Parts: sequence; structure tokens; C-alpha cells
Amino acid sequence: MKYNVRGMKIFVLEDYAQMSMKAARIVAAQVTIKPQSVLGLATGSTPLKMYEDLIHMYQQGIVDFSEIISFNLDEYYPIEKENEQSYAYYMKHHFFSKINITEGNYHIPEGLIVKSSGHDKALEQLCNNYDQAIIDAGGIDLQVLGIGNNGHIGFNEPDIRFESGTHKVLLDEETILANSRFFKSIDEVPKQAISMGVRNIMHSKKVLLLASGLGKSEILKAMIFGDITPQVPASILQLHNDVTLILDKAAATEILPFLTQYEIGLVR
Ligand code: PGA
Repeated sequence: MKYNVRGMKIFVLEDYAQMSMKAARIVAAQVTIKPQSVLGLATGSTPLKMYEDLIHMYQQGIVDFSEIISFNLDEYYPIEKENEQSYAYYMKHHFFSKINITEGNYHIPEGLIVKSSGHDKALEQLCNNYDQAIIDAGGIDLQVLGIGNNGHIGFNEPDIRFESGTHKVLLDEETILANSRFFKSIDEVPKQAISMGVRNIMHSKKVLLLASGLGKSEILKAMIFGDITPQVPASILQLHNDVTLILDKAAATEILPFLTQYEIGLVR
């Protein structure tokens, strides 16, 4: 089903597989319409199947990634690119090495400690360079997002300044706990990250937010129907003029009772 709430398009799909395919089709359509698209990409468990579906589409000759440019949302800090938990590794392993993206056309925030006397200044420079690279590429055409249990987008944790660009963040306890499932122990989860800011996300021409599973249901209700507040960073998306949410039924559990009045038609 498809709904329009406060200007946000919401698709509710039967399950994770259908949700992923819907998202993959939207990304593939973007790249087909504009082969030089600038994509904002996300990591985490939610987009994994979307990447798989895009790889299949590439293998079948349906989509060509050779001209796209991409910017990832975030990276742990500090972390080495070779570390299997790094988002650089994730992207290479789950997507980039399996499609025909051009070397040098993808960007991920630098996770390595900047070794210089003016450490913070050097890091700030890297963040500013990331913002500038996005601008130089013409801005993000389509930004893919997940949502954290605490409402974060990228690693913009509750209490974020909405005007922020790429910056270093201290990860929320809830995020560290949620992401510890990917590490041997919670102590191994980096406590900091480099993340695009809310400003970068809001400047994207289109936003595609994916959410799957009951665990995301409460926060989606707050994001969609609640106040726009830094306490729920994703709530700022209510002010973006081209947002599409792709949810599976489980993620939509809490909002479904409120959605009927917003229905805009049957989606196949
Ligand atoms: P997840 O993470 O896809 O692993 O649930 C989403 C996020 O934290 O943004």
C-alpha cells in the first residue's frame, strides 16, 4: 500500500524481501534516468538485500553503475579500512566489488586517526573536504537511509544540531549496544564515528529511507507523526520535499492504524 503523510510517500511492503526489491528498483530507476547520478549510500543490516538485488540487476544488464558517484553516510572512528567491521570493508564486500562502479568514484569518510599535531583541525579539514566533494559532484541526487532505534540518520544521534555538515560524533549508548551484534564484544565497538550531517542529508534531492522489523516500529511513529525535534533526528525529514519511506509490515506495525486516511492507492 502507498500513503502520503505530511508530504512523505510511504510504501508498506509485505516483508523484507519485497521491501528490498522495491528500494532496489527505485535506486536502479534513478541510475537509469541519470547514469551520472550521485548516490548517498548507507550501511547496516537493512540495505543488505537491496544491495544484493542491485547486484543481480547489474549482472542481468538491467543497470549500469559505471558513471555513478557515491558518498557513504558514515564510518566508525577510528578504524582501519581493512577491518571487517569498517564501513569501507562493508561497501567493498557487499556492493562495490560486485558491480562496475568506477574506482575513485566512491567516497567513504576517512576512519583513520589523523596523525598530526593539530589532530582536531586536520579532522575538521577532512570533514570539510567531504562536504566540498559532495558539492563539487553536484549534490546528492538520491540518499539512501536507514533509521536507528533511537531515530538517528547516518550517525546523527539524538540532540544533533540540524545544521551540521560532516563531523565527528560520539556514538549513543543505544547505538553502541545495537551495533555490538556485529562485533565479538561490546568493548570492541568504536565509540566515535565520522558522519555526514543532517544538513548534507537535507540537501539531497531525494531521500529513500528503509526500515524493517518490529524493532523500528515505535521510532518510525515518532519520526512520522511526532514533533520535529533533535531528540528524533529523522523527524527533520518531515520538512524535506521528496522523501520516500519503504517499510515492511513489521516496521509499520505502530503506524498502520493511523495510515488509512492517508492512503493514495494500491501498489503492485
Ligand atoms: P540497521 O541500522 O540497518 O542495522 O538497523 C540502521 C541505522 O542504524 O541507521
